[in-house]
Parts: sequence; structure tokens; C-alpha cells
Amino acid sequence: MSDKAILTIDGKQYEFPVIVGTEGEYGIDISKLRALTGHITLDPGYVNTGSCKSDITFIDGEKGILRYRGIPLEQFANGPNFIEVSWLLIFGRPPTTEEYREFAEELTHEANIDEGMKHHFNSFPRKAPPMAILGSMVNALSCFHPEFLDLDDEEKFYAAAARLISKIRTLAAFAYRHANGLPYLYPNPSLKYVPNFLHMMFSMPYHHYECDDLTRDALNMIFILHADHEQNCSTSTVRMVGSSQANLFASCSAGINALWGPLHGGANVAVMEMLDRIHKGNVSAEEYVKLAKKKDSGVKLMGFGHRVYKNFDPRAKLLGEIAEKLLPKMGRKDPLLDIARRLEELCLKDDYFVERKLYPNVDFYSGILLRAIGIPTNMFTVIFAIGRMPGWIAHWWEQKHMEGAQINRPRQIYTGNGLTDYVPMPGRKYPKRG
Ligand code: CMC
Repeated sequence: MSDKAILTIDGKQYEFPVIVGTEGEYGIDISKLRALTGHITLDPGYVNTGSCKSDITFIDGEKGILRYRGIPLEQFANGPNFIEVSWLLIFGRPPTTEEYREFAEELTHEANIDEGMKHHFNSFPRKAPPMAILGSMVNALSCFHPEFLDLDDEEKFYAAAARLISKIRTLAAFAYRHANGLPYLYPNPSLKYVPNFLHMMFSMPYHHYECDDLTRDALNMIFILHADHEQNCSTSTVRMVGSSQANLFASCSAGINALWGPLHGGANVAVMEMLDRIHKGNVSAEEYVKLAKKKDSGVKLMGFGHRVYKNFDPRAKLLGEIAEKLLPKMGRKDPLLDIARRLEELCLKDDYFVERKLYPNVDFYSGILLRAIGIPTNMFTVIFAIGRMPGWIAHWWEQKHMEGAQINRPRQIYTGNGLTDYVPMPGRKYPKRG
């Protein structure tokens, strides 16, 4: 393969270097394109645009491969926990026993939030969406931890990363308690990451929630499967905001807001609404698939399709298998799992989905598992955010130390008015709107 790409404009040839990734991915480095030719590239939705080089996560969407720091996702299925995977993503390799112990202790130590932050929860309306609360409160960490606004050295970054991973779980649980009019419960330092989160969600002052091993392992795996996914919408947002040298809390808060949308992290909620509609008999699985194929119906098969995967999303595969194994063991039969399997079966043999390479994505099965754990639907995207936090942190740090790091500032092709004179208000005459 040539190490140069040649572009011809108006008969003049320009050469651009071809960059090759570790796994043989090719990219044309067009960073000098405008300076040399006066042209820019137009790529709405960034379908073909590599915004950076990254060492963190590798995806081969054609083959359904996902690796964190080179390690295939499938190898996390029976081994490490979320804290170990968080360390791996942020610091580039798995931790030693000592490093793991120290990091886990730091998380336990930092789980509580400033008492002043608790009062903020009371001023949110009861019906406030938990994602709105989470985004606001992660941003508010900037007010309570001014010592981490400038993360100049690795020690400080380590401390800030530990705080974010630990505190987001407390903030998430408090958002839930507030919405349900329940007392806030302090983190319990004798509990590990996942049981401590579920304790803050579900214990009562008069009753301790006991987290069984199956529930712990299932939620642990859900966090791991969501931990990073290279340059997705929220991670690109974190990198974009971070590129202006905004602090880590502000950048991750922006990531939470990007994740909220139904085409990104919010899809797991939309999947459950879709399955529920089918379950209630409002529409059959077959009718739903028909609707999803009709362009003017405005309906999509939620939890299906992916910008990068043109094959099975490996996360969906693992989650489907976990749901299949765990639900019976947990003594929970969920009719929505049968509906999901039926939809999957219908789509995998339907030309529309086959031709467009639309397969189940991570959101297709995650909701069913979360429901089995007892997590309410409006907290699903919040769980996604807790899981994605180490990925956001790793990317924020990576972009900060990128060779030639600069503010991210895309260009545009302007298609508005040509030069137009300002007309004072009394002289304006336009056709009536609408
Ligand atoms: N149901 C029906 N048709 C679909 C769907 C779907 N879920 N997804 C894509 N298509 C069609 C789309 O209409 C288009 O058809 P045509 O070529 O005839 O115009 C074709 O497939 C290509 O789709 P696209 O919109 O160009 O694909 P994209 O890469 O821009 O969008 C997506 C990817 C995930 C936004 C889209 O597949 C979608 O909206 N899926 C449903 C929402 C969803 O599950 N989102 C979660 C994504 S995974 C979690 C995450 O990483 O955030």
C-alpha cells in the first residue's frame, strides 16, 4: 500500500501522507489540505473523519471486534472487575495487585460527596430527568474541587480520576433517591464498588440491601461493556470540550449530556419502551419490524444498527448471553427477553436489515438485564454514564497530551445569504410566516 495519496484539483496534483494504524487501518492525513489547496473536506456526521490517533480502544466494525488496550472484550467476561478495567483504560495496562488495591482504596475513600452538594439535590424538581441531574452535579464537582481544575501532573490526574469514578456512582444514586422522595444514604466503606452503588440505591435506614453475587457480576459486566467505545458521540464531545483546556469535570459533564440523546446512550430506554409496547399488545413484533422499514413512519427499530458495527456488536452478543443465563438463575423470567429474541430473529432474516447490515447493538439487551437487577428505566442511561466514565477520563487525558494538541475547531461550507444589507425595522416587508 502506498504511503502517499494524490489529489488532483484543477489539474494540479497534491500529495498527502497515508497514516497506518497498528491493526492496518489506513487514513489520509489532510491536516495541510486547506493550506495547500484552499479546500476543506465536507463530511457531515464525521462518517469518514478520523479526529485523532488513539491508543485506547480498537474496533473493527466489519468483524465485530472490540478491544480495550489490545485486550478483546470477550476476555473480560469471567475475569476482571470494572475497577481493574477502568485502570487499564486510563493508565494503559492492567494494574499490579498493589496498584489495584491502592486504586480501589482511593475509590472507597472518595465515595462520599461534599455535604454542600447534597443540598443541590433538594432544589431539583422531583420529576427532573436523572441524566439532567447527573450532568449538572458532575459539572458542580468543579465548584467543590477547585484543586483539580488544573491537572498538570499525573499524581493530581490520578486523584481526580479516582474521585470522578467513585463519586459519579454516589451522585447517580442520590438522583434516584431524590426522584423517589427517599433519604440519601452515605456510601458504606465496607462494600465494593458495585454493591456499594446498589446499597446507596436500594437500602433503607431500617433495611440493608443485600447484593447477591449474580447481581454484582451482572452489573459489573454491564459497566465493563460500556467502559469505552473509541470516538463515539459523547467521547468525542469530551475530547472536543477538553481541547479548549476546559477542566475534567466540565468535559465529562458535557459527555453525559451528549450521551443522553436517544440515538446514543438514551437508546436503551427507547428499546424498553418499544418492547413494552409490543408486550402490551399495542403492536406485534412483526408489525413493528414493518413500521421500522417504512421511511415515513418515523419509527426505527431501537437497539438495532450502529455507525461502526456492520456485523454483530460484540457487546450485544455478550449481554444477550448473560441475560439468557442470568435471568433464570436470578429466578426472573422476563417476557421482554422473549420479545427481543423474536425481533432479533425476524430482523436477521429480513432483507432490509441484512442489506443494511443492521444488527443488535449494546442497548438491545442491556435494559432487560438492568430491569432484572431492579434498576428503573429512567436510570438506564445513568448506568451507561457510570460505565463510560473511565473511557471519557482516558480520552480526556490522551487528547491533553496528544502530539500537536490544539483546540478542536471544524470548518464549514457556508450556504447562507450572500452579502445582504441591514434594513431598519419599519422598512421590513416579508411574506407572513407559516
Ligand atoms: N431501524 C430501521 N432502519 C434503520 C435503523 C434502525 N434501527 N438504523 C439504520 N437504519 C437504516 C437507515 O434508515 C438507513 O436506511 P437507508 O439507507 O434506506 O436510508 C440505513 O439503515 C443506514 O442507516 P444510517 O442512519 O445511515 O446509519 P448511521 O450510522 O447514521 O446511524 C444509528 C446509526 C445507531 C444512529 C442508527 O442505526 C439508529 O438510529 N439506530 C437506532 C438507535 C440506536 O439503537 N442507537 C444506539 C446506538 S449503539 C449505542 C451507542 O454506541 O451509543
